[in-house]
Amino acid sequence: MHFEICLYTCAIVQLRHRSHAITFHFVRHLHLKAYHLMNKSFTYSQDNAAALQKAYIIQLSPQGEPESPKRSTEHLNQFHRRALSLDYSVRHEFSNADVFLGISIQVNGDITEEEALTQLHDIPGVISVSSIYNVSVSVQPGIPRPDTSTSSNLESQPPVIVSGNGNLASSLEMGGVDKLHQLGIKGKGIKIGVIDTGVDYRHPALGGGFGPGHKIAGGYSFVLDNGTLRNTPNPLATCYGGGHGTHVSGIIGMDSVQDGFDIVGVAPEASIFMYRVFDCAGHAGSDTIMAAMSKAADDGVDLVSMSLGIGLASFSGALDPLAAVTQMLTDHGIAVIVAQANDANGSMTTPELYTEEWPSTEPTSISVGAISNTHFPLVYSATDSVGAPIQYASVYPLDFLNGADVYIINDGCSSTAWTDALAAIKNVSQTIIAFGVTTGCQATSAGSWNSATVEPAHIMALNSDTSNPYLAEYDTPSQGFFGATQFINLNVPDGSILKKNFAAAGGYLKYKLFFNNKNFTSVAQKSGGMVDYYSSFGPTWHEYDLKPQISAPGGHVLSTWPLGPLGGYAILSGTSMATPYLAGCFALVKSQFPTASIAEIRARLQVNAEPVPWVFNKSMLSATVQQGAGLVNVYDAIFADTKISPGQLKVSDVSKTAYGLVNITVENTSPNSKTYSMSHQGAGYMDYYIPSGKKNQEPMFGTTHFPTPSLTVPAGTSINVQFSIIPPQGVVPSNLPVFGGFIKVSDSDGKSFSVPYAGPPYSLYNTPYLLVQNASQGTQLPEVYAYNADQSQVTYDTGLLEINATNGYGASIPTLQWTRSFRVDVLPANTNITANYYGFDTIVKNDYQPSRSVPSDSIFGYPSFGTVVNSSGFIWPGGSSPFELDDTVMRSNGSKYSVGNGDYRWFASVLREGGSHGVQEDHDTWLGPVMRFVGS
Ligand SMILES: *[C@@H]1O[C@H](CO)[C@@H](O)[C@H](O)[C@H]1NC(C)=O
Ligand SMILES: *[C@@H]1O[C@H](CO)[C@@H](O)[C@H](O)[C@H]1NC(C)=O
Ligand SMILES: *[C@@H]1O[C@H](CO)[C@@H](O)[C@H](O)[C@H]1NC(C)=O
Ligand SMILES: *[C@@H]1O[C@H](CO)[C@@H](O)[C@H](O)[C@H]1NC(C)=O
Ligand SMILES: *[C@@H]1O[C@H](CO)[C@@H](O)[C@H](O)[C@H]1NC(C)=O
Ligand SMILES: *[C@@H]1O[C@H](CO)[C@@H](O)[C@H](O)[C@H]1NC(C)=O
Repeated sequence: MHFEICLYTCAIVQLRHRSHAITFHFVRHLHLKAYHLMNKSFTYSQDNAAALQKAYIIQLSPQGEPESPKRSTEHLNQFHRRALSLDYSVRHEFSNADVFLGISIQVNGDITEEEALTQLHDIPGVISVSSIYNVSVSVQPGIPRPDTSTSSNLESQPPVIVSGNGNLASSLEMGGVDKLHQLGIKGKGIKIGVIDTGVDYRHPALGGGFGPGHKIAGGYSFVLDNGTLRNTPNPLATCYGGGHGTHVSGIIGMDSVQDGFDIVGVAPEASIFMYRVFDCAGHAGSDTIMAAMSKAADDGVDLVSMSLGIGLASFSGALDPLAAVTQMLTDHGIAVIVAQANDANGSMTTPELYTEEWPSTEPTSISVGAISNTHFPLVYSATDSVGAPIQYASVYPLDFLNGADVYIINDGCSSTAWTDALAAIKNVSQTIIAFGVTTGCQATSAGSWNSATVEPAHIMALNSDTSNPYLAEYDTPSQGFFGATQFINLNVPDGSILKKNFAAAGGYLKYKLFFNNKNFTSVAQKSGGMVDYYSSFGPTWHEYDLKPQISAPGGHVLSTWPLGPLGGYAILSGTSMATPYLAGCFALVKSQFPTASIAEIRARLQVNAEPVPWVFNKSMLSATVQQGAGLVNVYDAIFADTKISPGQLKVSDVSKTAYGLVNITVENTSPNSKTYSMSHQGAGYMDYYIPSGKKNQEPMFGTTHFPTPSLTVPAGTSINVQFSIIPPQGVVPSNLPVFGGFIKVSDSDGKSFSVPYAGPPYSLYNTPYLLVQNASQGTQLPEVYAYNADQSQVTYDTGLLEINATNGYGASIPTLQWTRSFRVDVLPANTNITANYYGFDTIVKNDYQPSRSVPSDSIFGYPSFGTVVNSSGFIWPGGSSPFELDDTVMRSNGSKYSVGNGDYRWFASVLREGGSHGVQEDHDTWLGPVMRFVGS
């Protein structure tokens, strides 16, 4: 995802130092590269979300369907009649006119993709045909989904009963949920739709049943365990792959039950409607997700929780039918709450902006980032041979009658190490095999013992990297991740003690661990309360809308898991876990304000959230495009007696001449007059192209100008406050930065609210779009050049450049910003057009050799022979170095012709964001020196 602006300028600089023969190829190569860059995001997103072969979502126009009820199948009947020549099977039918009318199909037979598309487009009533994407459910990044599609034992085994004085409620306390539960606010009356892997509702903590009156009150299944599409009313999933939805359901609504852990979900009295779209291998088609959203709307849910992402957000802004469905649900009052994705690196030096996946990027969805639990929930204590206590993280305590032997291997990712160890170990079932966790071999990539004849019974990961707070934390993969092998994790100090005592005792068979204490504690985490390492960053491409909008506890969350050998509970991390938490919070607010709009509930959640520090520099707040509004506090969202809207701000151009003007409305819903004071707190500043030596979040903060820093608002009234946000000093717009912060509104009772903002810290309209420099700065830019016959010489001239077009000639015209239009026109050299920059001395007059061609096109009203570059869509900065081997140009009608000998100038025009095509002042422009064609 990271390409440097330097790619362009460095290459130009090098150009001068290379032999010109190489330069020739180099420049062409550069051109290709620039092209590649422009398309990179496209390719990337398609790689992430592979389209299914010859499978399509087809939007159909209504066919005389009745206004009400808005259900009919006439559009489908028509389609089937009209598509008789095509061999296809139906995947899903969409008949809710309030959501989407259409059908998704798999085309069969030998027909090519192209033929199929042509035939489909020709069918009357077909509005659009779109790809179906192969979506995978994801938990922590980097955890490959093991192939455990086998169903667990249906004879549910009650989980081991454990006790302890750990704080299992820590994640609920983080969001103020515990205080609401004490008041009896538990989400009663709210229906939460969950689109996921299905659920093991046999779990006593999930009510032990399915259907009206149960916690899992409804839902549907669109797939069988093996991925075959089949509609059934029963979303039961008992396989490992069904664990994700079981965990998500528990976060929303699990109960504390005698046979389980004493932990409850966020909205345990809400009804859950589970829509199973993922099979046991964790795959689903994007059309199946749409079908589930449509069904959820039919069932009258209040919100849907979607812990899924379809692929990296499209740089191109391309729309998918799923976007339309998201919008339709929201328009009909159903909130769509979506995971922001787990694609960040968790480092402080790599680029992180724009790592979100769609549909979290939809303007109407509420996207959620993940915050690490303040405590790792389950840590048990063992004692070693010399009496030293050794703490270990595990869902369940280990149990050995006479203690366990320990065997240490060097590399947990080496299959030889495992094979050798398993061959050397006398009693595998009584031995724990330990290995070190490193950046190169994380716990979840270990376990390569396939070539051994026995599987280890117990493995122990020893944390070893403390430089990154995220790597120092306890972690446990989900139950069943290593099959029947039990996994435990030691932190760095305990791992060191174990290794030291192990060596002192004489190693394997001389050293033992004893497990006599089944009580757990919960251990504070270094990254607790801060955004977790994988949680993807926003904002949205080009629009700079703040995503994620809010964060919720999602790291190291204990919740329900399928019963049987899978153990009934697991600790997982991901924005997948934060999303149902936020959905539960939304339900709690909705239960208290049943008529509140989605925007109002979102604003309540956002302005009452708590901004959190950046884990790598706790003296500053993490970027708003990382944390959104911050850590949710649903208690305050309900009980605050001030309402502020909107819940988030975008700081950008409000017109071509005004930047950074924003406003919020402050409503005093208390019975007394209140005086509020306004203040500002900056948050991490981020560059897309990170300058060397800088971190991806820097403490560069904007400032604010409040015309009225203090306002008195009488009881029951509201006031609109306008103010401006001023970017920090030192902004380099060509690094494509995003800045952010929080507007704080504090009342006289000491309560404060904050509104997050994000945006480009410069005027997108007024910033330079062309990189312009003169030779004294290294290289003249933009510039034009020509080659001699064998390309051994390149000539630059800023006065009059003679060109034999067959030898090749070109230009370097670097751009600095994303633009929606970049074109280079060929003008008569005596053009009267004016430009922002000139690549020649305007005082010098040359005699003019006219072209034999007539300039039949025009640019901004001036005659033009046509273009050598004419790109639209979203174009990456770094720009284009148009290169030619002949003297052809393209007319506006698409035809190409040879302009022939004569004097020309190249005119580059780059559209400014917010500007209009055809308006010269809305472009950054450059007019080049005379290019005299002499070759023909
Ligand atoms: C979806 O992708 C996975 C790999 O990520 C693959 O195993 C599976 O077969 C794909 N499903 C379909 C229907 O193409
Ligand atoms: C999937 O499972 C169903 C029901 O058990 C079975 O009928 C079908 O043949 C299976 N499909 C595949 C591809 O294995
Ligand atoms: C475990 O906890 C229980 C109840 O909290 C307590 O009675 C017992 O003594 C504890 N056991 C140990 C070994 O600490
Ligand atoms: C307040 O901001 C909104 C955009 O968020 C804008 O549409 C509106 O015109 C602004 N109102 C005032 C009074 O400035
Ligand atoms: C430039 O303007 C002058 C004066 O209006 C006009 O005579 C001339 O034709 C123009 N040149 C071109 C190339 O249009
Ligand atoms: C242009 O270059 C070509 C090939 O290098 C050569 O054959 C031709 O004579 C040149 N034309 C002129 C006018 O220099």
